[in-house]
Amino acid sequence: MLYMGDDFNWDCSVNCVCGCQILPSRTEGGGEFPKDPTGRILHFIKICNEYEEDGIVFLWGFFRRPIVIACTPESMARISKSNAPKSRGLMGVYRMIEPWLGEGLLVANGQKWARNRRLLTPAFHFDILKPYTNVFNASADVLVAKLKSKAASNDRFDVFQNVDTNPYVKAVNRITDSLFHRFLYPYMLFDFIFYNTSVGRQFKKDCNFVHSVAEEIIHKRKKALDGGENVALEGKRYVDFLDILLTARDEEGVGLSSLEVMIRRRRRSHGFCTRWRSIRSTRGSVNRKLIKCCKEETPTLSDMPKFEFLTQCIKEGMRLHAPVPIVNREVKEDFEIGGRNIPAGSIVQLNIWALHHKESVWGPDHMEFKPERFSPENVDKMSPFQFVPFSAGPRNCIGQHFAMNEEKSVLAKLLRNFTFRLDTSHEVKKNPSAVMRTVDGMFMYVEERNA
Ligand code: HEM
Repeated sequence: MLYMGDDFNWDCSVNCVCGCQILPSRTEGGGEFPKDPTGRILHFIKICNEYEEDGIVFLWGFFRRPIVIACTPESMARISKSNAPKSRGLMGVYRMIEPWLGEGLLVANGQKWARNRRLLTPAFHFDILKPYTNVFNASADVLVAKLKSKAASNDRFDVFQNVDTNPYVKAVNRITDSLFHRFLYPYMLFDFIFYNTSVGRQFKKDCNFVHSVAEEIIHKRKKALDGGENVALEGKRYVDFLDILLTARDEEGVGLSSLEVMIRRRRRSHGFCTRWRSIRSTRGSVNRKLIKCCKEETPTLSDMPKFEFLTQCIKEGMRLHAPVPIVNREVKEDFEIGGRNIPAGSIVQLNIWALHHKESVWGPDHMEFKPERFSPENVDKMSPFQFVPFSAGPRNCIGQHFAMNEEKSVLAKLLRNFTFRLDTSHEVKKNPSAVMRTVDGMFMYVEERNA
């Protein structure tokens, strides 16, 4: 794999950088790096459980630049709270996604990030999120109607079928897959090579397509706003994210560009996947308890606290299957984690996936679905950096409340209407892309409750 080769001189790399243990690739204990995506993430869990020292695992990266994995609450806290920027150098994944997302909130660093975060924050205010429960409920009703027909036919169905066949989602999936491709074939890290390959050309095409879709939506809404039209949902005056983003201005009166506004559209599918993952995990007594807590027919934002047990299940689903498995930072100056010196120029990988499976944090049963881990008594004892599906610190996810409310509203409706059963004849293989997906789907049977 990427970071190690057979001919690598381990002693040299271990001793000359920060002194913590480096991973053997083919030597005893490290094993060969698995080629398949599911094996890859299990391998990361293994190495983070076996080789972590002082909160980190040190890997030798490409072109002799170190990659350090942070996988304990302490090391996660240290790097998340720092102002280490998103990695945008040769090995920086954020450089590679910039042609897709522009220098928007996710990618930007420094003052540009601070300005955009300030402009976007009002869009996620409680009052703005309120009417979105109508949208969630309406969308969940469409899904319920679709699932009723699946229940009637008693056919298994792929949970991802309506997501992954959408041309926009397909383009986004190809874009994010190409990132892994570039790391698997490191010469592709060089733009002049990558853009001359078929994957690079497709990447460019997909970026153009995704931009055109976003720009069309933005253009329509801008026209409506410029024309003084009321933006309406079911006849009511209604201000949504897009209105706020399009009308936001900084001190100089400068607004957000289309690319900076675009971030919003990108996140839909992995929220969807997480919901399904959580449903899939429910069974037996957990299922009965869940149904009991999902009584509201059309929940509003103020009903959300009633979904306490559902929330525990969603969180446990996110712990087991982190929707965003890894995020990266680049340290610009020598940096200390757990008493180790991380040299300037290192990439620090915040491995959310491995942290959520750290035995010393979650116990030897970390692969089991146990929603009670998130009971109020247990949460009180947790470190704020132990469960971080939305990342943490100043660069945490701006959409996390929106995402959680959406999860709860839609799942509650689905669980009230149906029981779900996984088709165990089809193995669900995880694909840890920029967001967690499956390799070839996840099949389920659905049955109507009281049918
Ligand atoms: C289950 C759903 C979601 C998960 C698990 C999630 C997770 C994350 C994570 C881990 C990050 C940190 C990324 C990094 O450091 O590179 C992040 C950042 C971000 N997320 Fe989310 N997200 C979710 C939903 C959303 C939604 C619904 C929106 C918008 C409507 C959103 C918008 C953003 C933005 C703009 C950032 C960048 C924030 C910044 O750097 O200041 N996310 N998200």
